[in-house]
Amino acid sequence: MITLKNVSIETNSRTNNSFLIKNINLNLRKGDNVGLMGPNGSGKTSLLMAISGLMPISTGEIIYSSDDRSVSVIDYLSAINFELNAHDNLKLITKLYDPDRVCSEKFVDLVLHDAELKKDRSKILKQYSSGMIMRLIISLIFLINPRILIIDEWLTVLDSSFRNFVLNKLSSFKDSEKLLVIASHDRNFLEQICGKIVNLENGLIENIEKLG
Ligand SMILES: Nc1ncnc2c1ncn2[C@@H]1O[C@H](COP(=O)(O)OP(=O)(O)OP(=O)(O)O)[C@@H](O)[C@H]1O
Ligand SMILES: [Mg+2]
Repeated sequence: MITLKNVSIETNSRTNNSFLIKNINLNLRKGDNVGLMGPNGSGKTSLLMAISGLMPISTGEIIYSSDDRSVSVIDYLSAINFELNAHDNLKLITKLYDPDRVCSEKFVDLVLHDAELKKDRSKILKQYSSGMIMRLIISLIFLINPRILIIDEWLTVLDSSFRNFVLNKLSSFKDSEKLLVIASHDRNFLEQICGKIVNLENGLIENIEKLG
C-alpha cells in the first residue's frame, strides 16, 4: 500500500545532526499493523508526518499504491478549534476531511457516545482535558473507518477503559484490508496489536522485528 524508498528529511540547520530521518526503506502492506519505537528524537513523528504528507521529504520517494487516503490523528488534532464545542468541532472536522459524509446529528451522537463524552458535548474544547480531546478524535476516526490509519504517541493521555476500547479497535486492523502505523513508547501495547515493530535510532531504521 505504501512504499518508502531511501526517504530522508534534512533540515537547513548546519549542525552535525541535520537529518530528521535518513535512508528509510520500508514496505507497508494492507493487513500490516506496524509499530514504530525508538528514543525521544529518533524520528518517529517525522516519519509519520512524511507518510501522512504533512512534512516534505528531501530525498527518496513515497509511493502510494492505492487511492486510499490515509487518515492521520496528527492531522485531525491540528484541525481542532478550541473555541468551539465538541458538537461543532465534529461538524467542522468531518466537513474538512470527509466532505462526502453527511455529518448528521445522529453521527455526532454516535461519536460522542463512543467517546463517552455525551454530557460534555456543549463544552468548548478549551475546557477539555487532553485525554478527552483524544477520545473525541479517535472515536470520530474509528467511525470514519479509514483503510490507512496513522497514529502518533498518544496512549499516555488515555485512561485504562478507553485504552481497552482503542486496543480492541486497533487489533481488528491486523490481517484486514487495512494498514495501521502507530508510534509508541509502550512496547507492551504494540506487542498486543502489531505484527511488526520498526525500531528507529537517530533517524535510521535500526532493525525490524517480526512478532507472533
Ligand atoms: N520541524 C523540525 N525542524 C527541525 N528539527 C526537527 C523538527 N521536528 C523535529 N526535529 C528534530 O528531529 C529529530 C526527530 O524528532 P521527532 O519528533 O521525529 O522524534 P520522535 O521519535 O517522534 O521523538 P519523541 O519520542 O520525543 O516523540 C529530533 O532531533 C528533533 O529535534
Ligand atoms: Mg514523536
